[in-house]
Amino acid sequence: MPLIRTTSDIQPSEITPESVYRERRRFMQAGLALSGAALLGGMSSAQASTVTLKGLTRSPLSTDEAQTEYKDVTGYNNFYEFGTGKEDPAANAHTLRTSPWSVTIEGECAKPGTYTLEDILKPHAFEERIYRLRCVEGWSMVIPWIGFPLADLIKRFEPTGNARFVEFETLHDPEQMSGQRWPVLQWPYVEGLRMDEAMHPLTLMAVGLYGAALPKQNGAPIRLVVPWKYGFKSIKSIVKIRFVEQQPVSAWMRATPEEYGFYSNVNPEVAHPRWSQSTERRIGDFLKRKTLMFNGYADQVASLYTGMDLRKNY
Ligand code: MTE
Repeated sequence: MPLIRTTSDIQPSEITPESVYRERRRFMQAGLALSGAALLGGMSSAQASTVTLKGLTRSPLSTDEAQTEYKDVTGYNNFYEFGTGKEDPAANAHTLRTSPWSVTIEGECAKPGTYTLEDILKPHAFEERIYRLRCVEGWSMVIPWIGFPLADLIKRFEPTGNARFVEFETLHDPEQMSGQRWPVLQWPYVEGLRMDEAMHPLTLMAVGLYGAALPKQNGAPIRLVVPWKYGFKSIKSIVKIRFVEQQPVSAWMRATPEEYGFYSNVNPEVAHPRWSQSTERRIGDFLKRKTLMFNGYADQVASLYTGMDLRKNY
């Protein structure tokens, strides 16, 4: 699919609803144009993002379920660095400075170093991926992300044979992240994946949603999205990626190990110690629905866990 298409190439189904279009314009006017897109040629960032966003390929890995309304995707969030209430991140995340941004690559790889966000994004072609996100709290959304496979990023740093896991860290700066002034979690937020989970084609590095750059409350400028795991695995505002031999200890494992394990796969048969995980409420729906194994991605990912007891490895 070419990056730049003529209007006759654009299908009616791709035409953006008015409300989303207005939001998109708001982002661009606010100077939050997709930073990677700005690298594609000598265009101004607003021009570049307009062109690139039109040319985004929709990944066949996308679900065709109804998408959660933009106002809920960006107004009902978990991002404890900005408070523990669902509306806190949208209210407080404006203090996060997403530019300049850099990501440090460490550990078992041939090319460690600190890379600017532009260096991280430059070689990658963004695509749209519409994924279900299922929070451990029992609600779910369908979100049109923009991003590229984490596998493509990982390969660039040439992990060694000792790299069995990948660990991710969010920015730690209580001055920018007001929620970090309280010991709600042990900061920084840390998450991890086994190498084969990280390399799975569904695992996405996201830089945008709904056709525009990631809003700060959704983890700008770059976050992970792992659609078959509970939402807390999808770590936001990443500043560090470390290749390690030992299984990482995530922020949630450290906080309450009896409730949160390393794998965190969506499994309706394994209840959270304090509530069932068998159903969920899709934000915007009135009735609850049954939670699906691996959040509905079992065909693609169940083979990663062959032979493992998923009650023990929760
Ligand atoms: N990443 C960081 N750094 N801090 C957080 O508190 N919350 C997680 C995850 N990533 C969180 C985070 C949880 S619990 C969920 S459900 C998702 O982000 C929510 O993502 P969303 O707000 O974009 O829907």
